[in-house]
Amino acid sequence: MEQLKAKLAVVTGASSGIGAAIVRDLIAAGLIVIGLARRYERMEALRQELSTDEQRARFHAIKCNIADGRDVAEVFTRIIRDHGPVYVLVNNAGCFRFGQLATMDECEVQEVLQTNVMGVVNCTRHVFAAMRAHSIDGHVILINSICGHKVPVISDAMPILNIYPATKFALTAINEIYRQEFKGLGTRVKVTDVELKLVVGNSLGSERFVYQRTGAAEICPVFELIMHSTNPKEALRKQICNTSIEYCTATHTHATTYKHIDK
Ligand SMILES: NC(=O)c1ccc[n+]([C@@H]2O[C@H](COP(=O)([O-])OP(=O)(O)OC[C@H]3O[C@@H](n4cnc5c(N)ncnc54)[C@H](OP(=O)(O)O)[C@@H]3O)[C@@H](O)[C@H]2O)c1
Repeated sequence: MEQLKAKLAVVTGASSGIGAAIVRDLIAAGLIVIGLARRYERMEALRQELSTDEQRARFHAIKCNIADGRDVAEVFTRIIRDHGPVYVLVNNAGCFRFGQLATMDECEVQEVLQTNVMGVVNCTRHVFAAMRAHSIDGHVILINSICGHKVPVISDAMPILNIYPATKFALTAINEIYRQEFKGLGTRVKVTDVELKLVVGNSLGSERFVYQRTGAAEICPVFELIMHSTNPKEALRKQICNTSIEYCTATHTHATTYKHIDK
């Protein structure tokens, strides 16, 4: 990620989980990072945990509800005015509500759709406009899920995923739409779909991941993990973010898609 040192990245959903891990990795790689989430205090806590004053100075937390189009417009206008155009946008924020689509409250369904789909569309529109205006070969990353390709069947259990897989299927389509549009609009902006699946086997310490490049014959040996850790989920998240984001940002093709497969 040498070429991205001191360049600006925005990570949505920076207040917890995968987004917080991505922030740490991009900061460690030398980028200036703006984190967006509703829980500002958690992002501030993340800032305090960074290891040096120099790193803390490169991380900025901004409160933003990505499901609210007006909030997103105001925040990105401020970001671009104060920090300049964004080079990397990591669309990570997402939400999930338990329930059955056939019976659950309409507002909860709407919230998931608005966050997981329209949040991505709104953030990307503002970032892309600035990338295009400044002729930046930027990169838009979509943090997707294996649920974006196949609705899991959990036998003998009440289905609980409701609208969530539909929002992730939408991201799969949006990835391809952006690929065509970014090219068709004469830019060199890349889009990458990172499909995550967390699999916890019988033993908590055993988790196995392989990323495969779609559309190409080779299996990219990006990483394969068999973890033995006291906190496998956090360690795994860190590895996923570190490796997949670094790999994605290091590619030079016009657009790339990585498919995660479980061996
Ligand atoms: N963990 C997994 O097993 C897994 C597997 C496949 C895909 N993914 C995907 O990976 C991404 C991150 O997942 P995670 O496990 O790290 O989830 P998480 O720990 O629940 O974090 C979700 C993040 O999204 C933010 N967010 C949610 N709604 C938002 C809104 N309206 N506006 C702004 N920020 C919002 C939250 O911040 P605030 O609440 O502070 O706003 C939080 O920072 C999601 O897109 C998820 O679908 C996760």
